[in-house]
Amino acid sequence: MTASDSHQRMMHINLFLMGCGHHRAAWRHPQSAVEQLGDIRYYECLAQTAERGKLDAVFFADSNSAGNVSDGSWFYLEPLTAMAAMSRATEKIGFISTVSSTFYTPFHAARLVASLDHISGGRIGWNVVTSMFDVEARNHGYEAMPGHAERYRRADEFVQAVLGLWDSWADDALRFDRQGHYADPAKVRPINHQGEFFRVDGPLNVPRPVQGHPVLFQAGASAPGRELAARCAEAIYAVAYDLPAAQSYYRDIKQRVKAAGREVYVPILPGLVTYVAPTEAEAKAKQRELDELLPADASLRQLAMFIGQDCSGWDLDAPVPTLPPLEEFSGPQGRYSTILRIIETEQPTLRQLLGRLAAGGGHCTMVGTPQQIADKMEHWFRNEGADGFNLMPPSLPGGIEDFIEQVVPVLQSRGLFRTEYQGSTLREHLGLARPDHR
Ligand SMILES: Cc1cc2nc3c(=O)[nH]c(=O)nc-3n(C[C@H](O)[C@H](O)[C@H](O)COP(=O)(O)O)c2cc1C
Repeated sequence: MTASDSHQRMMHINLFLMGCGHHRAAWRHPQSAVEQLGDIRYYECLAQTAERGKLDAVFFADSNSAGNVSDGSWFYLEPLTAMAAMSRATEKIGFISTVSSTFYTPFHAARLVASLDHISGGRIGWNVVTSMFDVEARNHGYEAMPGHAERYRRADEFVQAVLGLWDSWADDALRFDRQGHYADPAKVRPINHQGEFFRVDGPLNVPRPVQGHPVLFQAGASAPGRELAARCAEAIYAVAYDLPAAQSYYRDIKQRVKAAGREVYVPILPGLVTYVAPTEAEAKAKQRELDELLPADASLRQLAMFIGQDCSGWDLDAPVPTLPPLEEFSGPQGRYSTILRIIETEQPTLRQLLGRLAAGGGHCTMVGTPQQIADKMEHWFRNEGADGFNLMPPSLPGGIEDFIEQVVPVLQSRGLFRTEYQGSTLREHLGLARPDHR
């Protein structure tokens, strides 16, 4: 690696884990690993595969309710617990888990995440979310979710308290002086936080994490979500159906980060669903194979909800009928506008549309050869669409194996992705500085 190479901007690539894959029907495939979802070795192998591809990190989303147990391979093992094991089965790759600021307390979260950072040798990130659903709230003592604005005020305070707790130990607090102090009491301080939602005296009962602060991710889409990201996120997950949508989010966030007075690099990683194979026809066949596993009735019922009309009599293999424009639709706008965009740009059959919605929803999908996919990723990367990608393989483990065996070498040969890890912490993989002790 030469000095000039070391300055070349590189993509960040993150594997977003999800049961048997992000396609809702992936678990139904005869060769799926659905029976292994409770076996930690399944997740350890996935992390090892991602590490073989030199990916930056593995990410677990999380929710606080059981979800639809009849039609999906959702969360099984609690992510922070699983990450403790996965980090011991790997050496370099980072691990990120969602942590809900609505359901955790700052002390609990700071302690768990700091412990994981020590266990993994500095490879942990946390994705702070405010959570979404009343069914989750009802598992945590609420009747319903607190309002959106309140959730984000709480998230803001939550983050400040967690960061304070991580700084409650100085980096050099530990003395191990057998005749004197274990730790220097002057270097372990309470934080005495008192806010709208939390009282946290501190100090934490875990010394300062290896990375100072485990890396803070965020994925908000609303104005308060973007503001939280601008104020404190160190890396951001995004949803973008196509390049114009990605650019609009990317430019908005970069501008908000600057306006918040932060002259720092905050990588933005949109979600990306890929079907890759040596030929385009084979890649399309992989997509079709999963789409055909979708139970049509359940998918049509879900589509009917999204578009506000009954579609049970529609022909699955004919083009989707014309839908009313966005202005005439009174339901939730985000998903409806994505459906209109998919119909407009891809002219799918009804079955293909159901498949697109069943794998990644509003996230970008790329189907093709390794070169075609690398071309598109490079185009987004060079044109203010992305600093990297949050890979959402439609099926696991096949989808990530395809990606690292076929697409990663193309990106590496173009100098767009690392061929070796240069550092050993998640911060180093992402090009982020270690925060000073405050
Ligand atoms: C890649 C990605 C992962 C996410 N993971 C979670 C998650 O694990 N749990 C969760 O409750 N929300 C998750 N979200 C939802 C966001 O945190 C956020 O609530 C959503 O984007 C809507 O934005 P808003 O809260 O600003 O309205 C995720 C979003 C994205 C794009």
